[in-house]
Amino acid sequence: MKNTVSTFLNAKQKGEKLTMITAYDYSAAKLVDAAGVNSILVGDSLGNVILGYEDTLSVTMEDMIHHAKAVSRGAKECLVVVDMPFMSYQVSVSEAVTNAGRLMKEGRANAVKLEGGLSICPQIRAITDAGIPVVAHLGLTPQSVNAFGGYKVQGKTEAAARRLIQDAFAVQEAGAFCIVLECVPAELAGLITGLMSVPTIGIGAGAGCDGQVLVFHDMLGIFSDYTPKFVKHFAEVGSVITEALRSYDSQVRDGSFPEEKHGYMIDHEIVEKLKGEFS
Ligand code: KIV
Repeated sequence: MKNTVSTFLNAKQKGEKLTMITAYDYSAAKLVDAAGVNSILVGDSLGNVILGYEDTLSVTMEDMIHHAKAVSRGAKECLVVVDMPFMSYQVSVSEAVTNAGRLMKEGRANAVKLEGGLSICPQIRAITDAGIPVVAHLGLTPQSVNAFGGYKVQGKTEAAARRLIQDAFAVQEAGAFCIVLECVPAELAGLITGLMSVPTIGIGAGAGCDGQVLVFHDMLGIFSDYTPKFVKHFAEVGSVITEALRSYDSQVRDGSFPEEKHGYMIDHEIVEKLKGEFS
C-alpha cells in the first residue's frame, strides 16, 4: 500500500511510529521500499554523501530533480519527499511554488521539504494551497550553517526553545503535514511533539518524536568523512564493499576471475577458421 499524507496523520493519531530514510538513486530506493519504511527523503544531503560537497549550499534544482526521478521510479510504497535546495524557495513565494511544482512534475515527488520556521510560512501556505504536501524542517537546518556558525544543537536556551515551539506552531498552521526536528534536545523535541497535531520526525532529537529519519549512507556505514553523534550504524556496509572490491582486484590480477561460467560460448570451429584467416 502506498504511504500517503493520510498514513502520516493516522500514525500520529494512533501513536504509531513513522520511519523515513534518505535515498538518492533507483536501487537504494528499491531497497528502502522493500524494507517497509514509510517514506524516502531525497535529501539535499546528497550534496555531501553523493556529490562530495562540504555543505548542502551548492545543490541545485537540477540535482534534486535528477535524483528524485531515479528514486521515484524505485519507490512503489514509500512516500517520496524531496528537499527544496538552498535558494529555490527563499527569494519569493512565487519562485517557491514554481520550484515545488517542478519537483512534483519532473521529479515525481509526493511531497516537498523546506527548511525554516515563521519566515517561510508564506511559502509553505502557497505551496500547500497549490495542492503540494509540505514537510517543514526545524532545529539545525543545514542550509543555514553559515548563519549558525557551524552544525550545532539548536533550542538549548529558553529563548531559542521558545522560538522553536513558536516556529513549530507556525509551520503547522501554515499547512505542513509533518515536521522534521534536527539536533534538538530530546526533552524539547518531546514537548513539541506532544503539542503538535501533525507528526514530528526526529534526527538527533530523541525517542520522543513521532518518527525517525537517518541518512542512508550514514546508517549503513558507507559515508565515513564524519559521523554525527546521532548516527547509529545498523550495518558496516562500507567495509563489506571495500572487502569485495579488494577481492575483485586480486582475482582479476591472479586470473581467478572471470571463470568460464561468466562468459559466452561460440562454435569452436568458427574461431579456428578465423584464426586461419587472420594469423
Ligand atoms: O537532507 C537531508 O538528508 C535531511 C535530513 C538530514 C533530515 O534534511
